Amino acid sequence: MERATNGQIATMPIEFKLDGRTVVGRPDEPIIETAARHGVEIPRLCYKPGLRPDGNCRACVVEIKGERVLAPSCCRFPAAGMEVSTDSARARASQKMVLELLLSDMPEKEYRLDSELDQWARKLNLGLPRFPSRTQPAADLSHPAMAVNLDACIQCTRCVRACREEQVNDVIGLAHRGDRTEIVFDLGDPMALRNLVTDLRPEWIVHCPAATDVAWCETHPEDAERINAEASGTLASAAAAAGSRLLYVSTDAVFDGSRGPYAESDGTAPCNVYGRTKRKGEDLVQRALPSSLIVRTNLYGWNVQPKQSLAEWVLDRLEAGEKLGGDQRDVADQRLLGAPQHAAVELAVLRHQKSRSTCVAETASARTAISPM
Ligand code: SF4
Ligand code: FES
Repeated sequence: MERATNGQIATMPIEFKLDGRTVVGRPDEPIIETAARHGVEIPRLCYKPGLRPDGNCRACVVEIKGERVLAPSCCRFPAAGMEVSTDSARARASQKMVLELLLSDMPEKEYRLDSELDQWARKLNLGLPRFPSRTQPAADLSHPAMAVNLDACIQCTRCVRACREEQVNDVIGLAHRGDRTEIVFDLGDPMALRNLVTDLRPEWIVHCPAATDVAWCETHPEDAERINAEASGTLASAAAAAGSRLLYVSTDAVFDGSRGPYAESDGTAPCNVYGRTKRKGEDLVQRALPSSLIVRTNLYGWNVQPKQSLAEWVLDRLEAGEKLGGDQRDVADQRLLGAPQHAAVELAVLRHQKSRSTCVAETASARTAISPM
């Protein structure tokens, strides 16, 4: 007699009881799928056919006779003679509690009419949640082409699994613990960052990504610290472990702009969150990989991306007749080569390139006119 292959064993029928009814499942089919084939709907949020089951939301728990704890049906497989209850009082209470807790964290604004969470809540006749909402994460609108708003995220990790296991590009990750758990991207995912560097072992890493929106950094100091400082340190230590060299693009905002141009030996005195977090990034990079090259630069000119360079941003406002307010002006003066007169010259040159006409740019303490050749 021939032995059955593993593939054959995986598809062998298994009889078990589902809500008192005898059904036929398979050793490789999770209970949630067998139930669906037999017309029994079990709530589910993190489960999605085609993606590896993760079992993190616990909306799909069922009661199995003789077992002390409820089991997530999306990652539990049947055994012969098993008795599963999907709608016992205990299973239902737990499913409802999960949904209610997640509902209580939802923003007031409704983004989608087909929200799976809302659909399951309706099916299980849930009313308004009884619990207070968490503090909603602030939207990240710092990039001109991409916005990230996680206020309706239930941390199901479908996006992480799709990105990591289907697309095989480790761009999205899950960071932190407890009520600080959140979906993060690239630099915010230290493990993904380390894995990437270890896998590629590049000769050089040019590290330019940063939270560069100065105003955003002021209102999101913890995020700025994480991106500009901590992630840079993580990258440097990963580079050190992989034997790679690192160029860290810092900023002239580590200086206060009271004079200039600055030399490498000049003391730093950042006057905003952006400058302080980039300065801390320099320290962490140097500590982790002392041979790193740190460049304090300010790139300016027309940006080829939709994003505006700082000089363009200032120029547009001046051309629109707006006055830069106190903080904005300080930032503009400080960032554009650290000295007001240089800032004025740069802005005038940009404007001249754009309009080919005589123009005047004025900042904190300088006024410069440039005429067409
Ligand atoms: S952002 Fe990702 S983790 Fe959050 S709800 Fe959407 S798919 Fe799930
Ligand atoms: S759907 Fe099973 S744990 Fe989320």
